[in-house]
Amino acid sequence: MAAAPTRPNYCSAPHVQPPRTARRIAVIGAGAAGLVAARELRREGHSVVVFERAGGVGGTWIYDAAVESDPLSVSPRRRVVHTSLYESLRTNLPRECMGFLDYPFLAREAEDGRDRRRFPGHGEVLRYLEDFARDFDLGRMIRFETEVSHVGMADDDSGGGGWTVRSRRADGDGEGEEETSEVYDGVVVCSGHYTAPRVAEIPGIDTWPGKQMHSHNYRVPEPFRDLVVVLIGGSASAVDISRDIAKVAKAVHVASRSAPPGTELKQPGYDNMWLRSMIESAHEDGTVVFEGGGSMLADVILHCTGYKYHFPFLETKGIVTVDDNRVGPLYKHIFPPLLAPWLSFIGLPWKVAPFPLFELQSKWVAGVLSGRMTLPTQQEMMDDVNAFYSELESSCCPQRYTHNLSNYQFDYNDWLSAACGCEFVEDWRRQMYVATSKNRVARPETYRDEWEDDHLVIQAHEDFLRQSKVHT
Ligand SMILES: Cc1cc2nc3c(=O)[nH]c(=O)nc-3n(C[C@H](O)[C@H](O)[C@H](O)COP(=O)(O)OP(=O)(O)OC[C@H]3O[C@@H](n4cnc5c(N)ncnc54)[C@H](O)[C@@H]3O)c2cc1C
Ligand SMILES: *[C@@H]1O[C@H](CO)[C@@H](O)[C@H](O)[C@H]1NC(C)=O
Repeated sequence: MAAAPTRPNYCSAPHVQPPRTARRIAVIGAGAAGLVAARELRREGHSVVVFERAGGVGGTWIYDAAVESDPLSVSPRRRVVHTSLYESLRTNLPRECMGFLDYPFLAREAEDGRDRRRFPGHGEVLRYLEDFARDFDLGRMIRFETEVSHVGMADDDSGGGGWTVRSRRADGDGEGEEETSEVYDGVVVCSGHYTAPRVAEIPGIDTWPGKQMHSHNYRVPEPFRDLVVVLIGGSASAVDISRDIAKVAKAVHVASRSAPPGTELKQPGYDNMWLRSMIESAHEDGTVVFEGGGSMLADVILHCTGYKYHFPFLETKGIVTVDDNRVGPLYKHIFPPLLAPWLSFIGLPWKVAPFPLFELQSKWVAGVLSGRMTLPTQQEMMDDVNAFYSELESSCCPQRYTHNLSNYQFDYNDWLSAACGCEFVEDWRRQMYVATSKNRVARPETYRDEWEDDHLVIQAHEDFLRQSKVHT
């Protein structure tokens, strides 16, 4: 038997318990989202089966030195590798504010081989998720090496008549395995969204002789030694990877959509790295031309241009679509109104602190599925979604930013906490997130090792101690 959970439910159930109906629920994926969803669903009394293609828990956090056969990840025949981690990756959030609400991601002093840094390497995150799965005994619910190939409505079109889940044991050669088909009351999709790359379109690229690659397939800098690299993008990975490569490359040119035409700015602290405007075109002779002028011979174009939502297994008869990276229509980024509560998505929001947000989403989904919490009517949910889309449109926010919660993740968390009857998330998490975001921009090289928010760290530790006293 696994050790008892170190901490009881952070969000203790109300004293008066409305009736709960236990459902049979399939969870797709055993990354951070699927793990916490499984825990919350089981706490609510549901019976849960988690389907996981990989041999272990952790999803994105399972580092894989192997990359896809197509370095740009566009060929439909390529072998898909799930993770996008690079070897040098350290978290871009401090561990206190990254961890689940009731299972702190604190340095384990007593154990060997642990990375105790505040912004640890990726291996420490994987060990944290493995600890989480072990301490809550989640393994029993998970079918490893089992890929879901189809999820669809079993008989009617409301989702209320059950969901068919077809799956196949991954045995390596992909042959000779029977497909299993089962019916569940509901499905919670936790399959992640950092695996299917988006690639920038560049006029002339078809005749350009250099090598192209997406950051999904970037692992180590060595292959870029003495090369001229043009890296597209301005996200967290672009910032990290450009610095990783600059250590060995001849030159790194970071082409960013937000840099005005003609930009050519030597990056502070580097002799071989420049910020550039976006690429205008690429040519047969190997040159790359930037908007507003300037060109050079380049060996590699590295696309750090993000990912698309992609659910190849999901068949909803057109009720849920992915259009310009908007998964919709979804009420609160979770429930398609016409199929609620039988189909739901955990983990779509980005520009957030993911784990705590996944945890609150999961509590709500679990409570709604049991009938302990109620949703508005379908019409009310649709109205809410449409109002949200109109608001985005009038603020000129492109559709592909629908799930960018950067401006309101903490309000969103509070909304979910209120819907679940939980305590609000501690304010130090917000303060720490904001402090880190500023620091990351101001000092991309050193923000992980130098900071000014020690008072928040102390508060976080005190809160964790206080909570564990209250609950034991
Ligand atoms: C490069 C990078 C750096 C990041 N850095 C940070 C950070 O510092 N801090 C932070 O908090 N977050 C970070 N994130 C965000 C990260 O995505 C989240 O922390 C979190 O891991 C997402 O969890 P998830 O469960 O939603 O998805 P995933 O971790 O991707 O898990 C999805 C799981 O679903 C499985 N799956 C998918 N399809 C199927 C199928 N058809 N059948 C069966 N199984 C399936 C996959 O195998 C996988 O295990 C980073 C992400 C990336 C890509
Ligand atoms: C996400 O939204 C915020 C706030 O609206 C905005 O400032 C930011 O540019 C967006 N991020 C991206 C990468 O689009």
